[in-house]
Amino acid sequence: MEVYEAIRKRKSTRNYTEEEVKREQIEQVLEAGRQAPFAGLAQAGKTDFRHFFVIKRGSETAEKLMDLVLEARKEDLREVEEKHLEEKYPVYAGAVKNGAGKKPVDLFMAPLLIVAAERSGRPAREHAALGYVMENMWLRATELGLGFKLCSGVSDVKDQSAMKRLFGLPEEENYAFEGCSLGYAVSDLYREDTRQLPEFDVTYLP
Ligand SMILES: Cc1cc2nc3c(=O)[nH]c(=O)nc-3n(C[C@H](O)[C@H](O)[C@H](O)COP(=O)(O)O)c2cc1C
Repeated sequence: MEVYEAIRKRKSTRNYTEEEVKREQIEQVLEAGRQAPFAGLAQAGKTDFRHFFVIKRGSETAEKLMDLVLEARKEDLREVEEKHLEEKYPVYAGAVKNGAGKKPVDLFMAPLLIVAAERSGRPAREHAALGYVMENMWLRATELGLGFKLCSGVSDVKDQSAMKRLFGLPEEENYAFEGCSLGYAVSDLYREDTRQLPEFDVTYLP
């Protein structure tokens, strides 16, 4: 598949079969994430700043991670209420209110959740870098015929220490985290051309 074809066909898959993803395909997707750009200045010549964790639905790690995401959602709700965010962000506030009391099972729509961790540095580019990691993995998954969905609830977890303990990362460092579902789509793996896109709003400045 050509790169642009994968870009056009990529979409968020929200219906997965129960079938386990083959180890070889998982590794092809992770390799694409490993190849994604990193912030050279922030990572200062080191090569041990990017980590991937493959988590199975129903596992002990899955349960612990969902507890942390749920806790983050409760904190988000407290912030919405204290700062009256529903006035400026009604859609967000509604989603936060809806999610605060519920186990975040949306993290495990697929049999697998992949979490990527990027070590924090200066300048702070770790969240941006994870965006590239996710997009590389998404395009590769599309090429391989795998469904993929971002699970950005993982990046909302506020308890850094708990995340580092859960993933066995060194306590003295900080990390950004991002998550995604990976699995076989029930149907409609590829995007239709009729889907809504952002406006083509381009200004060529003098
Ligand atoms: C930064 C970011 C975070 C996202 N987080 C989630 C998420 O947590 N759950 C989800 O289902 N989709 C998530 N999405 C996917 C978007 O909802 C989706 O890409 C958008 O609706 C366009 O649909 P498409 O991916 O099928 O083209 C996220 C997308 C971005 C860019």
